[in-house]
Amino acid sequence: MLVRVRRGALDPGIPGQFFMLRPRGLLLPRPMSLCLAPPGELAFLVDPIGPGTRALAELQAGEEIDVLGPLGNGFCLDVERPLLVGGGIGVAPFPYLSERLGGPPALLGFRTARHAEAAALVPNSEVVLEPTYVTEALPPGRAVLACGPEPMLGAVRRLAPDAQLAWEAPMACGYGACYGCAVEIDGCLARLCVEGPVLRGHARGQAPAVAGRVAAA
Ligand code: FES
Repeated sequence: MLVRVRRGALDPGIPGQFFMLRPRGLLLPRPMSLCLAPPGELAFLVDPIGPGTRALAELQAGEEIDVLGPLGNGFCLDVERPLLVGGGIGVAPFPYLSERLGGPPALLGFRTARHAEAAALVPNSEVVLEPTYVTEALPPGRAVLACGPEPMLGAVRRLAPDAQLAWEAPMACGYGACYGCAVEIDGCLARLCVEGPVLRGHARGQAPAVAGRVAAA
């Protein structure tokens, strides 16, 4: 489901960057990629599967939450013949990314028909019902921008070594302080919130992060 908050002073940032969202009563914030940036709002795609995501999904209009972002490194948008490749809830940044890239083709994989409903948010998308199958349909000669489960990203990377990949990891702080998001990439430990979540981009930009309290829309 889409959770919308008022934008306030927050910059939507670059597609692939993320925000730390903390509803009242939750000790730790949850990292969420921006899904859409309609005027005056920020929207996040939430799969309510745990206490944090359920608290976000149950927000009532006007209820306030703490927000910090945009954080991390987003996708490089200076690409020719882009193709979006995604799986599961990993497609969350694609609606905003697609908008910024002018609606390129997208290849999306989902485990269930319920999750596949998210494809309606991504223009020009072709859907398969298993994330790892997207690699079988990967055409050559495209600049791949991918986001999704680790096995899918690994498979994309083998076929398209220059692909920009948005990785996922549990995050507690979002700005490099807790090392909770450390993952091994190419044999080296990397804090995904600082060096990612998008890796292998050739140019990275970052909007200044803003913290604040905003209300659900
Ligand atoms: Fe704390 Fe990355 S989430 S260091």
